[in-house]
Amino acid sequence: MDNKVKVSLQGVGRTFVTARGDKVEALRDINLEVEDAFTSDGRDVGEFRVLLGPSGCGKSTILRMIAGLDHPDKGQVLVNGKPVAGPGRDRGMVFQKYTSFPWLTVADNVAYGMKVNDVPSAEQAKTVKHLLEAVGLTAFAKAYPDTLSGGMQQRLAIARTLAVRPQIILMDEPFGALDAQTRGDMQELLLRIWNETACTVLFVTHDVEEAIYLADRIFILSAHPGTIVEDVPVPFGRPRGPGLKQEKHFRQLQDEVLASLRRAPGRGQVRVSI
Ligand SMILES: Nc1ncnc2c1ncn2[C@@H]1O[C@H](COP(=O)(O)OP(=O)(O)OP(=O)(O)O)[C@@H](O)[C@H]1O
Ligand SMILES: [Mg+2]
Repeated sequence: MDNKVKVSLQGVGRTFVTARGDKVEALRDINLEVEDAFTSDGRDVGEFRVLLGPSGCGKSTILRMIAGLDHPDKGQVLVNGKPVAGPGRDRGMVFQKYTSFPWLTVADNVAYGMKVNDVPSAEQAKTVKHLLEAVGLTAFAKAYPDTLSGGMQQRLAIARTLAVRPQIILMDEPFGALDAQTRGDMQELLLRIWNETACTVLFVTHDVEEAIYLADRIFILSAHPGTIVEDVPVPFGRPRGPGLKQEKHFRQLQDEVLASLRRAPGRGQVRVSI
């Protein structure tokens, strides 16, 4: 088994049965592989993959299966070459909804996973300090999550997830509820942190610009049933800055990706940021 392959879905199918007894084929024959990228001198620099597709194409279902929160009816989901049996410390998930513990302070939320994993308290404190700095929440260490704005709560969720050093981070439209300015800021922050951690990221969005700006490769999905229609490499180097979004090549790729989405079934529900 090639250990560069972090996540692999092989012939995955998932059909849900609704409360009324109707069958919904959410995913059909999904095959995808996420490998880690390496520099020429052998340094692991992770990989940033985006799943892009219209509402209902099964993006969340794919992430949930990789996280071990749901299971395929057909085929298999492998993480580091092993079938996923349930959630694990090697995978962290950030949801669209803010999911911090409301009864814990910001700092205690970040420390929580380390506490559960019996990380020594001096190391916990060091990691909390570093991560709060990285996401710009040092001044709010003692605040409670419900006193924070949406963008701040999502920064907290990212810090909380990173604190346990997962190899793979699964992000399900984490910036979907944020205003355009905050969303842009969060994209910058995420790329900066990702560059430091070199982990594998699988990021779900239905925003074409966000997908291209963040990804090394984009899986384009169609809906009803969800299938992968294209695997698009993004040729832009890193580090990337917001100016890239205005460049001609970026705009061209945006048009191409949008055309692919329009050709795919289940189209019409994809956002285009201008
Ligand atoms: N627990 C469930 N019971 C019944 N149907 C479900 C369940 N979970 C998902 N589905 C159906 O499976 C399909 C895929 O859902 P999923 O949430 O994965 O899509 P998505 O791409 O994440 O959509 P969105 O962009 O709206 O979040 C949809 O048709 C949805 O209604
Ligand atoms: Mg979803």
